Amino acid sequence: MRKHLMAANWKMNKTTSEAVAFINELLPLLEGVKDTEIVICPPFTLLSEMKRTLKGHDDIELGAQNFFWAEKGAYTGEISAAMLKDVGCSHVIVGHSERRHIFGEKDDDIHKKIDAALAAGLIPILCAGETLEEREAGKAFNVVEKQLENALQGLTFKNRGLVIAYEPVWAIGTGINAKAADAQEMLSFIRQWIRKKYGDQSADTIPILYGGSVKPANIDEFMAEEDIDGALIGGASLHAGDFARIVRSGNDGK
Ligand code: PGA
Repeated sequence: MRKHLMAANWKMNKTTSEAVAFINELLPLLEGVKDTEIVICPPFTLLSEMKRTLKGHDDIELGAQNFFWAEKGAYTGEISAAMLKDVGCSHVIVGHSERRHIFGEKDDDIHKKIDAALAAGLIPILCAGETLEEREAGKAFNVVEKQLENALQGLTFKNRGLVIAYEPVWAIGTGINAKAADAQEMLSFIRQWIRKKYGDQSADTIPILYGGSVKPANIDEFMAEEDIDGALIGGASLHAGDFARIVRSGNDGK
């Protein structure tokens, strides 16, 4: 059985006091949740304080939203995988469409980041997804396959040492989520792709998430689908009540 996973991507939101207030509001709302893995990915500036605030709540893990693949050196403004480990991160988002489209990250950068994250013992949450233009042109499956192929080629990972998030670009932050059946179709395609390339064990253990305008009102539909193991949540993860409701939707494993 694959444990469900709900990951919050706060993007560039929240100050320290807002983050602490969020956690204090969230913890009582999650009482009784035990079968869902929870990862919160705040901005870098909040990681240390979040680690302190979450002391004694090992069931909530910390992730970063980005990092640079080099070990150390003259890279002004960058942060390494070892630094993320040092501050208490277990996960890191890699290849988010905002990194690809706003900051110009290419498949080659993403490959280097996955390699460096795995080497440092971080679990990458690898994002892939097509634009609206690509979907309308019937290229969605090819695009996602190519992104995964380029990101992972030549790399090996342990069971649950990798998370894949399918995030159609047109659904991110737009309020227009993919239909659950369309997301299921893509996630089933991704799972088959993993099975073909990495074998049954990987296919049966790697969590595959859907992301893009997930909210309390639509999460149950997604979680009812066979291959959807959880979600990567942006906007709705900024509100403790909404995030807790989403986490609860996944609280029974698959
Ligand atoms: P959204 O963002 O839930 O606000 O659409 C999802 C994401 O970017 O991971």
